[in-house]
Amino acid sequence: MQIVILNDAAAVAAYGANIFAAQLQKKPTSVLGLATGSTPVALYQELIAKNKAGEISFSHATSFNLDEYLGLTGEHSQSYRYFMNEQLFSHVDINKENTFVPAGDAENPITACKEYEAKIVAAGGVDVQLLGIGRNGHIGFNEPSSGLRSRTRVKTLTKATIDDNARFFGADEYQPHLSITMGIGTILEAKKVVLLATGENKADAVHAMIEGPLMAACPASALQLHQDAVIVIDKAAASKLADLEFYQHIEAENQKLQAHLATL
Ligand code: GLP
Repeated sequence: MQIVILNDAAAVAAYGANIFAAQLQKKPTSVLGLATGSTPVALYQELIAKNKAGEISFSHATSFNLDEYLGLTGEHSQSYRYFMNEQLFSHVDINKENTFVPAGDAENPITACKEYEAKIVAAGGVDVQLLGIGRNGHIGFNEPSSGLRSRTRVKTLTKATIDDNARFFGADEYQPHLSITMGIGTILEAKKVVLLATGENKADAVHAMIEGPLMAACPASALQLHQDAVIVIDKAAASKLADLEFYQHIEAENQKLQAHLATL
């Protein structure tokens, strides 16, 4: 794991956006894995600005989102399809036909999960997958006890996740308790993963992910198995890491190495 600790949420978003921008510049036909939640919003704003400035184009890119609420259509204002349109797709030059979000309104959700996996494979696999992290260590909607090799499937949300996301729903609005999510095994197949976490309320989950054992009780700990996982966090989210100074030292050395390589 590459652990990048930055001052604040704005720096985290800028760092993450630069990874995605570099990916699109290197490979315009990139397959991007995208995420919802409040954390990626600032990163999407950075990407929109870069797109408008002509620095990057999404016109040949394809995207796959991690997850969707089961029981909501894409027109529902709380669906993740709606979120992605609002936060990114409608503001950049991506062809919406090349943007995929699990079908929350699928008549047969089981078949829809299999089809989603097949579409990712047909697109050549995900080049860079963006992730947030839940307070309980979930990634996508892979809640604690999720199989570490799981595939896209229907998952029941924990009460903690329902409570955390209740802020987005109106008092009398139906809030789903089921989802379709890429599995942990699906996520681990992305060539690169970039997880963003900000704020003190993520500090326990970040500690468990980086310093805890590999275990289904903390789904994000599965990233310990990934060969190219970049964890980008602010100081607040890093505040419970026991080896904080060591991670900062490694990253400083890494920056020196990158600077040297750039001169070759
Ligand atoms: C939801 C999403 C996750 C996201 C998490 C944290 O549960 N399914 O992908 O990482 O929320 O969201 P936030 O960034 O708002 O804390």
